[in-house]
Amino acid sequence: GSPAWEQERKRFENGWHGRLTVSDVSRRAVPAVDPDATPVFANQPDADWTQAASRTALRDAIAAWKQDPLPPVPDLNATLDTARAAQPGWESAGAKHRGEILRAAARVMAGDRYRTLACLRLEGKKAPAEADAEVSEAIDFARYYAATFVVPTGLQARALGTVVVASPWNFPYAIPSGGVLAALAAGNSVVFKPAPETAGIAWLIAQQLWQAGVPRDVLQFFPCADGEIGRALMTDPRVNAVVLTGSSETARMFQGWRPSLRLYAETSGKNALVITAQADRELAIKDLVKSAFGHSGQKCSAASLAIVQAEVYDDPVFRRQLQDAAASMVVAPSTDPRGVVTPLVQEPRDALRRALTLLDEGEEWLLQPRQVGADPCQWSPGIRLGVKPGSWFHQTECFGPVLGLMRAESLEEAVEWQNGTAFGLTAGLHSLDPAEQAWWADRVQAGNLYINRPITGAIVQRQPFGGWKKSCVGPGAKAGGPNYVLSFIRLEDAGEVS
Ligand code: ALA
Repeated sequence: GSPAWEQERKRFENGWHGRLTVSDVSRRAVPAVDPDATPVFANQPDADWTQAASRTALRDAIAAWKQDPLPPVPDLNATLDTARAAQPGWESAGAKHRGEILRAAARVMAGDRYRTLACLRLEGKKAPAEADAEVSEAIDFARYYAATFVVPTGLQARALGTVVVASPWNFPYAIPSGGVLAALAAGNSVVFKPAPETAGIAWLIAQQLWQAGVPRDVLQFFPCADGEIGRALMTDPRVNAVVLTGSSETARMFQGWRPSLRLYAETSGKNALVITAQADRELAIKDLVKSAFGHSGQKCSAASLAIVQAEVYDDPVFRRQLQDAAASMVVAPSTDPRGVVTPLVQEPRDALRRALTLLDEGEEWLLQPRQVGADPCQWSPGIRLGVKPGSWFHQTECFGPVLGLMRAESLEEAVEWQNGTAFGLTAGLHSLDPAEQAWWADRVQAGNLYINRPITGAIVQRQPFGGWKKSCVGPGAKAGGPNYVLSFIRLEDAGEVS
């Protein structure tokens, strides 16, 4: 790598034991090795848009894209019986065989990149860079889970049985691919229930995995509404585990339906980035607006709060630059290649509507969000000043393009407020001072900690992703980390028969 990258790598290795990153230079550039050819896991690079062929392929895929008619909802009983009947054969085919199929899945997904990107842009309403990162991440999951299914010696792995994977609409490609591939790698059969808003992308995943060699009975596609059939699916005793990425309320609802359910849920967040007086302010602004307004803030990982040390908060230059940076993000439909802040997937209601339109006492707009054009889903970024600890905006996930600024006297106070929500998903610090970095890293309560980089966009293997506190339900193994596949098996002592 370049000298700068070497320097960053050393800081990373010396300082943070792989849990934190100090920079984003590791972003998926042109790889040193072909990730498909190396036996060691390597991250898939994003598309290379300097190549005319890439741009043409995407343009053609967007022009050709049409929503495939989805298959009808299959019969629930038949689906679950099929899953149960198919599972033992898949498990006994062995980890090596399944690993080969996962690697084939990575190749199919890489080969189908532009069709997937078109679908993510048009159905998923994703901006180009956001869509691209999702495809790379899904391919990483396939290769990484193929490589990391290693059962500790002296133990025997047994699959759980049938796993339901319920996908979210905000990362409709990477997140469900990860859940499905991990459950499959461990020898389970999977019933894949897509989010209705992005069922077309889910249908693409199912087709790609079948094409790679996953048997159709082992992976079944089960598009249904979130109502009665969804409930019947989650509560059926033939389902051995459910993987959910969704709101904390949905996770609680599932647990209420079936208290004994083995549920792995990655849920809501109220994430803050702390900016101290020791920060590189321009870098902090760049990373903050990316974390707050990428995919219009519709990420569990998004920065919803910036807790800023008084000296920086009070600096008019900092405020103006932040305001300019947010206001300069191109607000446009996802069909427009320049679009960064793309339309919301759902019309704003409840908490988000309030966050976009109402201020609490003592708050003011640094940048007022506005509906742009006739589309009720298209909003420009908003920044609230003067958010108070304990206030509604400090505590509530809003899931949209609104950022709140809090003024803290000290790093101690900032961390207290950063930890002072029910959630614990992502957390960031911008400070160039190693003493502040170490002090912060010891105290902050979140699954994913980032220093001097955006707080969204975890990369497989490098930043295993998962929550803490109310952001996580279940054993909490992190997606894209070494233990994730193992959470889909039961371990028994070798030789034990019961
Ligand atoms: N894994 C996604 C991110 O890191 C949610 O932003």
